Amino acid sequence: MRIVIENVGKTFVDTKKHEVTALTNINFSIEEQEFVVLVGPSGCGKSTLLNIVGGLMSPTSGSVYFEGMAASDKKPSLGIVFQEIALFPWRTVYENVIFGLEEQGISKQEQQDKGKHYIDMVGLTGFENSYPKQLSGGMKQRAGIARALAIEPDLLLMDEPFSALDAQTRTLMQEELLTIWNRTKLSTLYVTHNIQEAVYLADRVIVLSRHPGQIKEIIHIDLPKIGRDKDEYRVQFEQYADQIWQLIRQDAQDALKEG
Ligand SMILES: Nc1ncnc2c1ncn2[C@@H]1O[C@H](COP(=O)(O)OP(=O)(O)OP(=O)(O)O)[C@@H](O)[C@H]1O
Ligand SMILES: [Mg+2]
Repeated sequence: MRIVIENVGKTFVDTKKHEVTALTNINFSIEEQEFVVLVGPSGCGKSTLLNIVGGLMSPTSGSVYFEGMAASDKKPSLGIVFQEIALFPWRTVYENVIFGLEEQGISKQEQQDKGKHYIDMVGLTGFENSYPKQLSGGMKQRAGIARALAIEPDLLLMDEPFSALDAQTRTLMQEELLTIWNRTKLSTLYVTHNIQEAVYLADRVIVLSRHPGQIKEIIHIDLPKIGRDKDEYRVQFEQYADQIWQLIRQDAQDALKEG
């Protein structure tokens, strides 16, 4: 299934009744099994765009649609992972992971099998009965990812899922996400303002500029999906990172000044 984002724009009205154009004229698609990363400076509209694609917010103009889906089909399912994972504190890891499955009306046995499968995939086997408060930041994030994957969504949406983690945990989680992605091949839209992370994970990087948020460039990362951090790709990797940095540099500096 292909997700098409067509002429999307979003205007907010702030508390002083001023209009803020967060996004304008956004056009791109997410192909089947494609990993698309949105990068851009703070305030350029990344989260707004992700929320619109996920149907959590409606665009002021334009539309988002799932191509190849008949009107009679079930609604496309979405797995969403935010920066601050909202696990239910009163539910164990297992109960959190199967949350979306309970609503699918599948048998208890099937819920158990899937729950176990995805808990294993994110490396949380042995922690099924732990509560969120007993987990480290990285483990919570893994549980959140398992919950998003368990429903086997048509589209996976991730908004800076690792930005609250320390640098080492973050690197490990990026590696793990790639391994998981390689097994599931879910169409994914991933938001980050970390350029290295974008080059490491993406099939395509969409660079947004700010005021108003619009697409500055779409860069296809022509490197093997697994093993990009190997020495042999170092030069190309850095070239991509530099190309993206040059595109957002001025905007990022402006964002910094405005605070
Ligand atoms: N509910 C809202 N009401 C008014 N303005 C909003 C609202 N949500 C976002 N905005 C504005 O829209 C613009 C885009 O915000 P958004 O949160 O999408 O940016 P972002 O790229 O995700 O930023 P960050 O990198 O800091 O997470 C900003 O100028 C923001 O102030
Ligand atoms: Mg954001």
